[in-house]
Amino acid sequence: MAILVTGGAGFIGSHTCVELLNAGYEVVVLDNLVNASEKSLERVKTITGKDVTFYKGDILDRVILNEIFEKEKIESCIHFAGLKAVGESVQKPWEYYNNNISGTLTLVDVMRQHNCKNIIFSSSATVYGDPAQIPITEECPKGQCTNPYGWTKSMLEQVLMDIQKADPEWNVILLRYFNPIGAHKSGMMGENPNGIPNNLMPYVTQVAVGKLKELGVFGNDYDTPDGTGVRDYIHVVDLALGHVKALAKLNENCGLAIYNLGTGHGYSVLDIVKNFEEATGVKIPYVIKPRRAGDIATCYCDPSKAERELGWKAQYGIREMCEDSWRWQKNNPNGYED
Ligand code: NAD
Ligand code: UFG
Repeated sequence: MAILVTGGAGFIGSHTCVELLNAGYEVVVLDNLVNASEKSLERVKTITGKDVTFYKGDILDRVILNEIFEKEKIESCIHFAGLKAVGESVQKPWEYYNNNISGTLTLVDVMRQHNCKNIIFSSSATVYGDPAQIPITEECPKGQCTNPYGWTKSMLEQVLMDIQKADPEWNVILLRYFNPIGAHKSGMMGENPNGIPNNLMPYVTQVAVGKLKELGVFGNDYDTPDGTGVRDYIHVVDLALGHVKALAKLNENCGLAIYNLGTGHGYSVLDIVKNFEEATGVKIPYVIKPRRAGDIATCYCDPSKAERELGWKAQYGIREMCEDSWRWQKNNPNGYED
């Protein structure tokens, strides 16, 4: 039996493929490569010494989905595929709703036609909006999202919950990721954003490697210890391991389950700059800029439910996250394009 990993060539997906193969699973990837390179899957093979079956195609395409479910013995799906750029989603809401929502509806429909009713969905801390409490537990109410991308996550959580409620044969795990950074220890796999990065860590590493001049710090007047935004950064390999644990939970017929995946520690933008400089010895020049629209002051989780119920806990600290992000960037200044 195999695991279907949609979006498996992407940042989190490729790291999850490594951990799935290391844990002995067979892996089938479906990815249209809209935001990824097939080279990431070659690196997965080099790192693990094991093969991944790759289908280049779209989750909106029933023909390829049917082909996969007919040819491969899929027991569960880890569903990463989706568009994820917050700013772009404001400019192109139709594209985001169509790709993420119609795509997931199509995937889930084909899954149930083939009697595969186990899914792990990539959700996000963004569903909490401006959180009602810190640290954020899974009981914390969902909030108002500030962009169409966030709404696709919030709506898809509801869609999957309703499907599971109507048909209890479904096992649905919603994983709410906090801020994934870091890269595989080998330095062979990492985050590969198109154009100028929107997220903090890839921006920092591109400043460090000399591709960008300086970091803009978006606001230093938040109600936080140093005035800059505080987030719960989590090493992508820890996040990947969380999916391996969640798969085991699916096999217990868990019904619906929701978990925060984060470390439970909050770091400010300036903490990240400082830790990155200490971990790498590279200076990061920065300037303070106005706040970015839609940003919140503080976001970090209580990850204890995942520890209790999945036996999962993040192992890597901020230093390793910085070291590993840097190793990837330094070895691959142009990502997978080299
Ligand atoms: P990513 O862009 O690297 O990976 C997403 C993958 O999905 C890409 O390889 C892309 O080519 C593929 N894809 C997109 N639309 C597709 C479609 N219609 N059909 C087939 N493939 C398609 O992003 P990531 O950071 O690895 O994120 C993975 C998932 O986790 C996404 O759903 C994202 O929204 C979610 N998430 C990410 C973060 C983060 O900060 N990185 C935080 C919370 C949630
Ligand atoms: N920041 C800067 N300068 C930059 C980029 C970011 O100061 O160039 C700051 C932001 O203002 C924020 C922090 O760094 O305070 C983190 O910003 P990111 O863009 O890296 O991450 P966000 O917390 O804004 O959002 C990310 C993903 C979302 C996801 C969320 C929770 O982009 O899609 O984490 O998982 F929903």
